[in-house]
Amino acid sequence: MRLTILGGGGFRVPLVYGALLGEGSGDDRSGSGVGGDRGGSSRITHVTLHDPDAARLSAIASVLAEQASGVPDAPAVTVSTDPGAALRGADFVFSAIRVGGLEGRAVDERVALAEGVLGQETAGAGGIAYGLRTVPVATDYARRIAALAPDAWVINFTNPAGLVTEAMSRLLGDRVIGICDSPAGLGRRVARAAGADPEEAWFDYVGLNHLGWLRGLRVAGRDLLPRLLADSEALGSFEEGRLFGADWLRSLGAVPNEYLHYYYFNRETVRAYRSAARTRGAFLLDQQAAFYAAPSLKSWQATRSEREATYMAGSREVAGAGERAADDLGSGGYEQVALALMRAIARDERATLILNVRNRGALSELDADAVIEVPCLVDANGAHPYAVDPLPPHAAGLVTTVKSVEREVLTAAAGGSRAAAVRAFALHPLVDSVAVARRLVDGYTRQHPGLAYLNRK
Ligand code: G6P
Ligand code: MN
Repeated sequence: MRLTILGGGGFRVPLVYGALLGEGSGDDRSGSGVGGDRGGSSRITHVTLHDPDAARLSAIASVLAEQASGVPDAPAVTVSTDPGAALRGADFVFSAIRVGGLEGRAVDERVALAEGVLGQETAGAGGIAYGLRTVPVATDYARRIAALAPDAWVINFTNPAGLVTEAMSRLLGDRVIGICDSPAGLGRRVARAAGADPEEAWFDYVGLNHLGWLRGLRVAGRDLLPRLLADSEALGSFEEGRLFGADWLRSLGAVPNEYLHYYYFNRETVRAYRSAARTRGAFLLDQQAAFYAAPSLKSWQATRSEREATYMAGSREVAGAGERAADDLGSGGYEQVALALMRAIARDERATLILNVRNRGALSELDADAVIEVPCLVDANGAHPYAVDPLPPHAAGLVTTVKSVEREVLTAAAGGSRAAAVRAFALHPLVDSVAVARRLVDGYTRQHPGLAYLNRK
């Protein structure tokens, strides 16, 4: 089988390839079965990396070659800057593009922070700007996939993942599935803190990407979450417990996705981010520039470790949450969700995974086409969302508001409407004034050539 990776020159491609090799990237062993011999005819034999940037492609290809050295039957790797050539004949397509690069991410952050609002790449104004840039490009890829590889399954990693998946689903239907590692990571951490085996637990998790809540943790028919919420020591033992604090988790009666810290502690976070020497995007830009200038497996590993260790560092500082736990630093999240999904589809081995798919009635608050993040049963026919309990009112409010913001982004991207872009910013709960929203649209269109389309009407 053939896997095509859009954004094949991207920094995290070696994680995926390492997992395909069945031996990880030096510090994990995946045993996924899609790579390696155990996959039989469902094994990935060819990986095609597509990226418009030839230099990034060759940097990443050289790292993959080092990873593959000495591994029998390692998937062959080809690179192409031509999307048509890369997509034709693909069985699976991973989309992990970054429109505007990390330079664009840094601009997203800077413009928002200058207006006193959050510029994070998925939450708030930064996520809207990134979405406005990315949706037209992702839509174009979706159109090409529909024409050139109509039977391919498309796994979208590209952030903002829920919004981008919904944009692609308008052309690809349920053949596109969005993924994120944060719900699985949250589930794993909460299960361990509750003394349960994550493999045996049912995670009652739902929402939008980076905007979901774990409302229950069922093991053998019992919900272990109430007991965990009562145990301050256990709550202090994992990332989300430390980020949000026992008191707020008890008030909510649920454990939110870590990205909800940007909502619940917005003012403190914006203040801290405004005074930071460098934004996350600017930091990643500098560290990755050094890697791409002299790429090697060793420098990739060192760069990746540093990225993991500093993930959400600003938010952890605001919360006084300390360092990340050692368990959270190793790889396994991002690429394992993708591999588990691919394996369930390719081998028709049923698996339950939390994925971004069209709602189809799973969550009563939203329409059938709204992409949500929800536990799904996956098999050779794709991802089938489980019906879930309605959201509590506070969560329903946020989810429906942010979904309506996403819809404004899709409208703006489809029709070049500046008015829709202003509505997207102005209606977002983390943007506190219509005047700010207008200035954000002006600022972003000035800085990003990719947003010139918003000035057409
Ligand atoms: C988490 C999120 C991803 C994000 C990644 C890296 O895994 O779920 O959506 O891409 O972190 O974040 P970073 O700030 O390092 O780019
Ligand atoms: Mn994510």
